This record gives sequence, structure tokens and C-alpha cells, in this order.
Amino acid sequence: MQQGALEIIQGDITSLEVDAIVNAANQSLLGGGGVDGAIHRAAGPKLLEECKTLGGCPTGEARMTAGYDLPANYVIHTVGPVWGGGDHNEDSLLAGCYRNSLQLAVDHKLRSIAFPSISTGIYHFPIERASHVALRIVLDFLEAEESAPRVLFTCFSEQDLAVYRKTYEELQA
Ligand code: AR6
Repeated sequence: MQQGALEIIQGDITSLEVDAIVNAANQSLLGGGGVDGAIHRAAGPKLLEECKTLGGCPTGEARMTAGYDLPANYVIHTVGPVWGGGDHNEDSLLAGCYRNSLQLAVDHKLRSIAFPSISTGIYHFPIERASHVALRIVLDFLEAEESAPRVLFTCFSEQDLAVYRKTYEELQA
């Protein structure tokens, strides 16, 4: 993995000047609350127009659109699993969100991608467990894929930032 390939930061993902930001969407891809609502507000109405042409997205998969009024050039929309107790394939579906988003970025030769903490808001996936799944899959991807983009984990709150940083240290130990 190249130096500086993964960063964990705190902030509002809609303000980032990266090639793509990832949206924690729902299967309709037609907007919602949380980071999804913030991205649609910041991107403007043309984002919804393009999303309407996509025909939705299954859980664990990802779809790409333009970024419109966002500083980011693209939005990669992925659908995280709703937490159902942990024995409903949640971990592998969440891993799929990160892997499929990164693969889209590689396919389009993107150099930087920012992720929010998928599924840990309205979908109630416990953040400690989600951070392990997310960081493990991204570290594995960066290890395996030479043309992988720079990855920014964008935590909205200070508490979430602390969790992701702690998990990162645990995975490095
Ligand atoms: N920048 C970065 N992170 C943010 C931002 C932001 N501007 N706003 C919120 N977060 P959530 P989910 C964090 O609920 O759990 C929508 O209605 C937030 O603090 O946005 O995957 C969709 O349409 C949390 O850590 O996504 C779906 O129906 C993280 O983003 C559903 O919510 C994810 O929280 C998806 O739920």
C-alpha cells in the first residue's frame, strides 16, 4: 500500500474536493435523510434527475453519477444493509458496498474517493463492527490493487472519528 493511501478525517463529505464521494443511499436511489439528503441538497436537483434513470440499486452494490454542484466530480451511490442483529449477512453486504465502490473508482481511473460511515446512521449498524468491516476491506483492496485511488474515511462526528482511528490502530497491530 502506498504511503498516504488511506486517511481518516472528520468533516462534511459534501465539501470535499475529491474525484468521487460515496453516498450511503437506499435501494430506490431517490434520496433520503442523513448523508444522502445532504449530498442531494449540495449537488442540486440534476442529481435526482440522473438517479431516476438508474432504476435503483440492490444492497451491497454501487452506481455512479455526476457530482453536479458538488466540488466532487462524481457521486458513487451504494446501499448499505439495515442492521438486523448481525446474522443477516450484514457484514458481507457492507463489505460489498466498499469493494464495489472502490472497483467503480478503479474502472473510471479515479484518483481519490471519500467514504462516509455507511449504514451506521439511520440503518443502525453498530459503528465499532462497521469500522472493522470497512477498514479491513479497504486495506485489503489497497494492498491488492495497484491503481486504487486515495481513500478518505470521512467521519461526521468526533466520536465516530475516534472509533475509526482506534479500529485502524487495532488492525495495524
Ligand atoms: N458528511 C459525512 N457524514 C455524514 C454527513 C455528511 N454531510 N451526514 C451524515 N453523515 P446515514 P445509513 C454520517 O443515516 O445509516 C438515508 O435516508 C452519519 O453521521 O446517512 O447508511 C438513505 O436514503 C453516519 O455516521 O446512512 C437511506 O434510507 C453516516 O453518515 C438511509 O439513510 C451514515 O448515516 C441510509 O442509512
